Amino acid sequence: MEKINWDDSFSVGVKKIDEQHRQIIGIINKLIDSTNASVDSELISDTLMEMAQYASDHFETEEHLLTEYKYPDYKSHKDHHIEFRKNTVNFSMDTLKYKRTVPVEILTYLKEWWVNHILKIDMKYKAFFVEKDVK
Ligand code: FEO
Repeated sequence: MEKINWDDSFSVGVKKIDEQHRQIIGIINKLIDSTNASVDSELISDTLMEMAQYASDHFETEEHLLTEYKYPDYKSHKDHHIEFRKNTVNFSMDTLKYKRTVPVEILTYLKEWWVNHILKIDMKYKAFFVEKDVK
């Protein structure tokens, strides 16, 4: 599977958020790499847990910023985060118990969810924060 290549099209214009998105993409790329190597399931589940934790921290940061500036689509945005949290916990536990590698459907889900979320959902607040002069 092809890794995700970060470029300027992923930038939402807020430095801290961009840094967190890059970290998350880095973890996903690490999981994609792991499919090409012989690694034990504990390492993979640790990486999945790391991503779930990091994503959770990121959602908190982002939600805090969105509420602080009274972003109008906050509720709908938060619902996307809730859906991701729920799915990540479910498949992390599944991988921990039964799998030696990350199933391709999980990697596909992670990759597509984050690319779609950053480029389509997060990107909706870019102009809003530009207007509020948040960098
Ligand atoms: Fe950057 Fe809405 O997560």
